[in-house]
Amino acid sequence: MKKRIAVLASGRGSNLYAIERARKAKIPVMIIDYSLFSSRELYECALLSTMQQVKVDLFVLAGYMRIIGAAIVCSFPGKMMNIHPALLPSFTGLHAQRQAVEYGVKVSGCTVHFVDESLDGGPIILQHCVTVQEEDDEDSLAERILKHEHECFPEAIKLFCEDRLKIVGRNVRIL
Ligand code: GRF
Repeated sequence: MKKRIAVLASGRGSNLYAIERARKAKIPVMIIDYSLFSSRELYECALLSTMQQVKVDLFVLAGYMRIIGAAIVCSFPGKMMNIHPALLPSFTGLHAQRQAVEYGVKVSGCTVHFVDESLDGGPIILQHCVTVQEEDDEDSLAERILKHEHECFPEAIKLFCEDRLKIVGRNVRIL
């Protein structure tokens, strides 16, 4: 069955561009400017009501650099996917690539996961590894990881669209 997908982005949107169909399609865009709201609660109310109105099967967080509140997460269980530029559960939160370089890991990567109420802690769908080079800094590592993000995310979304992802506890089985 055909799925309807909405993408939440707050940055440059290269992951959105990597989703081939989205590139070709004329996607309706809605802007909810959080700077116009006097509190995070009010912003999230507006976001939730917009998300409820669009009636989609999946929300994809592609470079959505804000924490999604519990009220929103609980409204769409198993229907929100995020990409994180590290091999979770390592280096959650912001500047994951910088954290990896500073920690001195030899391998990092990216993780696509379902969103739950924890920070970057939901059930893992796919991960790609990227070797960290001795001369890497945050930017060079981020650039290499991003190339993998652009493969990993569309792959995970495709699996979702084919109904091949089954959440069992905190595991995701690929059918
Ligand atoms: C990506 O590295 C993503 O993993 C992180 O923010 C970056 C967003 O890139 N959450 P873009 O906006 O998709 O280009």
